[in-house]
Amino acid sequence: MAGMIEIRNVSKAFGGVQANKDISMDVPEGKITGLIGPNGSGKTTLFNSVVGYHPINEGSIRFQGREISNLRVPEIARLGMLRTFQQTRIYGKMNCVRNMLISVPHRNLGWADLFGKQYSAEDMDKAERLLEFVGLYAKRNLLAGELSFGQQKLLEFAMALMNDPKVLLLDEPTAGINPTLINGLIDRLKRANKEFGITLFVIEHNMRVIMNLAEHIYCLAHGQMLADGSPEQIRTDQRVIDAYLGAH
Ligand SMILES: Nc1ncnc2c1ncn2[C@@H]1O[C@H](COP(=O)(O)OP(=O)(O)O)[C@@H](O)[C@H]1O
Ligand SMILES: [Mg+2]
Repeated sequence: MAGMIEIRNVSKAFGGVQANKDISMDVPEGKITGLIGPNGSGKTTLFNSVVGYHPINEGSIRFQGREISNLRVPEIARLGMLRTFQQTRIYGKMNCVRNMLISVPHRNLGWADLFGKQYSAEDMDKAERLLEFVGLYAKRNLLAGELSFGQQKLLEFAMALMNDPKVLLLDEPTAGINPTLINGLIDRLKRANKEFGITLFVIEHNMRVIMNLAEHIYCLAHGQMLADGSPEQIRTDQRVIDAYLGAH
């Protein structure tokens, strides 16, 4: 089956560093797809290419059949593809609800906020509903900077959902989160996929997490595709095991 995202023969270099070389993969609609690989193997670079953060040197990236490798971040976001970061990007000096409201750039809520305009009741409701969904409703009026790191990641996830994405790219969503919150986050990711129908493409360093989440996993090493398969196939793939052992 063709992917919702089709990545074909993508290469990206930074000066002399070949961060991605001849990468091809498919992210099927409605599923959770995983991307793993040792540190420095090119995972974040690939995400940056897909969401239009930087141009690629070679290859093609299609989203729902449309070539997007020539588009930039805001255009791709408008098509319904969003990403979250390895480091959270929230406004620590604003409360959680306000972070939610300003996270919808195409409605220019940022400007509405600067000029002290009121948000629509619909957006307020949605913000509160999604904060409830990620378990932050009781903290909705706290400054985002007062949340724990794990809670900030949940807030960032809720902020992305505020935009009704078709597909969400998550870069190490569980990094730095304590085990209790990790289980809660995995549960929320699965529910966002099943109940809201959001396609997920997840970079994850924690093997237990990605095995539990993804239906299909791609593994990069040294900027190239090393292996892909079901969690079980990846878990037992000697090339994957060697790549991770060699990295530590
Ligand atoms: N903006 C950049 N400028 C120069 N080199 C970069 C840049 N971004 C990534 N790299 C290099 O590309 C390689 C892949 O990095 P990255 O995609 O961040 O890997 P991963 O996310 O798998 O840890 C690394 O060697 C990294 O140093
Ligand atoms: Mg990375």
